Amino acid sequence: MNKPQSLRAQLVLRLTLPLIVVVILDAAVSYFVALHYADLTYDRWLLDSAKSLAQEVKAQKDKVTFDLPPIAVEVFRWDDVDNTFFKVESQTGGLMAGDKSLPTPAIETMVRDQPTFSDSEFQGRKVRIVSVLTAPTATSEEVQVSVAETLNKRRSMMSEILLAVVLPQLLLVFITGFHIWTGINRGLRPLHALACLISQRSARDLNPIPDSGVPLEVRSLTHTINALLQRLGSAMTTQRRFVENAAHQLRTPLAGLKVQAEHAMQADNLDAMKPALAHIKNAADRVTHLSTQLMSLARSESVMYGVRDFRIVDLADIARDCCMEWVPKALERNMDLGFEAEPKALRIEGNETLLRELLANLLDNAIGYGNAGGQIAVKIEAKPEAMLIVEDSGPGIEPNEVEKVFERFYRVPGSPGQGCGLGLAIVKEIADLHGARVRIGPRSFDCGTRLEIVFKGSPRN
Ligand SMILES: Nc1ncnc2c1ncn2[C@@H]1O[C@H](COP(=O)(O)OP(=O)(O)OP(=O)(O)O)[C@@H](O)[C@H]1O
Ligand SMILES: [Mg+2]
Repeated sequence: MNKPQSLRAQLVLRLTLPLIVVVILDAAVSYFVALHYADLTYDRWLLDSAKSLAQEVKAQKDKVTFDLPPIAVEVFRWDDVDNTFFKVESQTGGLMAGDKSLPTPAIETMVRDQPTFSDSEFQGRKVRIVSVLTAPTATSEEVQVSVAETLNKRRSMMSEILLAVVLPQLLLVFITGFHIWTGINRGLRPLHALACLISQRSARDLNPIPDSGVPLEVRSLTHTINALLQRLGSAMTTQRRFVENAAHQLRTPLAGLKVQAEHAMQADNLDAMKPALAHIKNAADRVTHLSTQLMSLARSESVMYGVRDFRIVDLADIARDCCMEWVPKALERNMDLGFEAEPKALRIEGNETLLRELLANLLDNAIGYGNAGGQIAVKIEAKPEAMLIVEDSGPGIEPNEVEKVFERFYRVPGSPGQGCGLGLAIVKEIADLHGARVRIGPRSFDCGTRLEIVFKGSPRN
């Protein structure tokens, strides 16, 4: 079984994750932009230092000289955060001052008035180097002045920028996350209240759930629950009426049983007892019949609400078989029970036991309510839809009774026999289960009843 997913966790995740991604991207972009401008500023200072050194390159006669007093070199190098290095080198004369091994670009590759910046390593530390070309007079040779600086200032600035950018963003994520969390909790509160309300209800309370104060989004849920409660209510009412009716139907023969048993007890001999015993048997038959019909109804209901054990069955075969079983009963009333079907099978999807019960009820009625010595025809038709027809030549059902005869426990007043009014209700229930329609059709005999069960769709091959 799937573990239920938390709506709260999902919402928090879906809202906060994109926010975190946006914040990270924003922090990264701001960091790199700030870093670029910080680099530009430090590079400009480095270039200023190189240019001020370049001003010390002088021309004396034909020679270029670079003469910086040691105190000036000291001042130039002084920096409490970074180490500064420099190198002055002429094209022909080589190193004039500074650190010889400072990695600088070849003079030939450089263009005057275009400083060259590079990143390199010097004395085991990373450095940023700027080199400029200078010539004291237009004719004299070119001198390269390079200044290098370790990266401590830049690095500490990087961390400061990072902190300045990331901290407020983190705070933003935290505040927004907190608001999302509390907002979701507040939003879910009506659902908790609803769950509480439903859990406190008694099992018999099928009144609709009030939806005042319930948010719009949850209303479809309360409406569905209310519709279900309504359906449940009417199902329970039907069930209760059914139980009442069944109890009532049972009470009549049972009361008769009791009275006749008392009569029998008062009789002196067996002959005097016999009429009472005959009544007792009669009442017992009625109770047995009623319980058989009730069980049949319960069986079709359990299929309706439980497992649908349906298979492909041959309707013609079942009907033929049933007719054979009912011939002796028909003969008792001197009736002619005929069966008509095409020789080939008529396959439908259904439950054989229930279909047999359906047909048994129809045949029971046809034999019971048809005229003695009359005719009964059971027909199977395949076109346009699979159809089972049972017709008799009896008195028929009055048009104003047609709807009522399918109700549970309804019997047409004055009906012969000891039926309990459940037969056609069972027929209807089983037909419904098979998605079939029950209708009282135009009869082919002069009088009588024609009951048709029309199955949906064309028969299976
Ligand atoms: N073929 C028929 N011809 C005339 N009337 C019929 C026919 N079938 C049913 N009826 C009428 O419809 C009523 C309801 O029939 P249904 O089969 O539901 O109940 P029942 O036969 O009285 O009792 P049960 O079948 O439960 O023993 C019957 O009382 C009867 O009057
Ligand atoms: Mg009947």
